[in-house]
Amino acid sequence: MRRAVCPGSFDPVTNGHLDIVGRASLMFDEIVVAVLINQSKAGLFTVDERLEMLATVTKPYTNVRVDAFQGLLVDFCRAHDVTAIIKGVRVAGDFDYELQMAQMNYGLSGIETLFMPTNPKYSFISSSLIKEVAKWGGDVSPHVPDLVAKRLQERFAAARK
Ligand code: PNS
Repeated sequence: MRRAVCPGSFDPVTNGHLDIVGRASLMFDEIVVAVLINQSKAGLFTVDERLEMLATVTKPYTNVRVDAFQGLLVDFCRAHDVTAIIKGVRVAGDFDYELQMAQMNYGLSGIETLFMPTNPKYSFISSSLIKEVAKWGGDVSPHVPDLVAKRLQERFAAARK
């Protein structure tokens, strides 16, 4: 079985992430969307909330499952028999950082990283930008799944009270 991982913070998942996951799911037997548990950075959503949103929005892809990991990504890959790491690249700036991580991960484990160019429709979308816009009441609904738009609205409405 050829299994690949799509790792990230997914705080929250965007249409850009979903596009990469969907395209990757056509190339591998199984895709694991792996959410980083980052003890030193609290997100807007808890890891459990992110996993729940991811599980819901990836439901149409029958060979995609979601999981969380702590520590090194390559250790997660070894433990889960993952052959490749898939990374979306939006702009040239992404590539510089991603290349360093890919080379480090290859050196640590021999696991390959495959870069997938983001669909240009999504190249300006990031979870950070989405949170910034949603925080001030901007409409993010074209850029995230409906469920995520709803959760963002609820989270920031609760914060304004
Ligand atoms: O969505 P993000 O925050 O850009 O994802 C970054 C992520 C989670 C893919 C990256 O930080 C990562 O792999 N972290 C795990 C720790 C690790 O393996 N670090 C060494 C990378 S060379």
